[in-house]
Amino acid sequence: MTASFPSARILALETSCDETAAAIIENGRILHSSIVASQMEIHARYGGVFPEVASRQHVLSVMPVVEQALAQAHLTLNDIDAIAVTQGPGLAGSLVVGINTAKGLALGANKPLIGVNHLEGHLYSAWVYNAGEAAPPEPQFPLIALLVSGGHTEINLMTDHLTYQRLGSTQDDAAGEAFDKVARLLELPYPGGPAIQRAAEEGDSTRFNFPRSWMDGTYNFSFSGLKTSVLYETQELKKKGKNLPIPDLAASFQQAVIDVLFKKTIQAARAYGAKEILIAGGVSANRALRQTFKAQTEFPVHIPAFSLCTDNAAMIGSAAYFRWVKGQVSELSLDARPTWPLA
Ligand code: KG4
Ligand code: ZN
Repeated sequence: MTASFPSARILALETSCDETAAAIIENGRILHSSIVASQMEIHARYGGVFPEVASRQHVLSVMPVVEQALAQAHLTLNDIDAIAVTQGPGLAGSLVVGINTAKGLALGANKPLIGVNHLEGHLYSAWVYNAGEAAPPEPQFPLIALLVSGGHTEINLMTDHLTYQRLGSTQDDAAGEAFDKVARLLELPYPGGPAIQRAAEEGDSTRFNFPRSWMDGTYNFSFSGLKTSVLYETQELKKKGKNLPIPDLAASFQQAVIDVLFKKTIQAARAYGAKEILIAGGVSANRALRQTFKAQTEFPVHIPAFSLCTDNAAMIGSAAYFRWVKGQVSELSLDARPTWPLA
């Protein structure tokens, strides 16, 4: 399908949270370079993202990251057809660094500028593959997309490129947020997702029967009750003078999240006659979640490579390409609101 679209190389920037990223991607799929400067170690000291510190780090990193992306792809700005940048949602002070840099590059090099919604970017990470590798099959429509990140948890029906219907979303914490908050309760380091995953791999997921909030009759989620239940369990154990069995608590919590994400996604895929399932966002890096979805045989499942699950610019370049070739973006679109129907 991509072959019928015009050829274009896009330089994309992503600075919505705590990663400064740049990538060069061709035709929305072929990744020539992807550089991510993570601020994780800096924010770990504060136990979460410190917005002012994040903006300052983006200012320091953004141009070196752009230069590295070009150098790694053996290209210059002259070889680029358009510049893309995350327009939102995200931290205002962080977004503006990427947006202003992209504006400067686009104006200076006289290239079109494409603003991209971060959530749409996450979904398009499923289209990306490395230059030099054989093209994997593209996701087929209609598909059910589970978007699980630090800020969002949604089930979307995607009937075509750029065409979404949100079927449900979290009513309180996002899945990644729940991982981060429970990690803090268990005194595990930031970011919580990978820390819980590591601890869980040593634990017994059946030791604690934490509640699953099914939100029956909807495709919505709720994770705050689960988080509170982990809090009460840790308080009880402490009151009894017991050491916290961190691996078992982590594994039981992780299993409760996965059970709900999995069951509701499969239900949606059946109900809407989906050809495939797509999972994206930081939590899709979770090994147990990936195994659970891959083990079921009813639907083909697209999960991005690990490096494309968490924030990166490749996904922004991919979404930008499809918006651009479909004419759903105006040149120098940054005066417009992010074009995501689901925000
Ligand atoms: O997509 P992302 O990088 O940023 C947002 O757009 O929010 O997602 C970050 C979230 C964090 O909450 C982080 O704890 C979670 O993804 N995460 C994970 C894993 N890796 C990152 N959660 C569970 N297991 C992981 N391996
Ligand atoms: Zn993200």
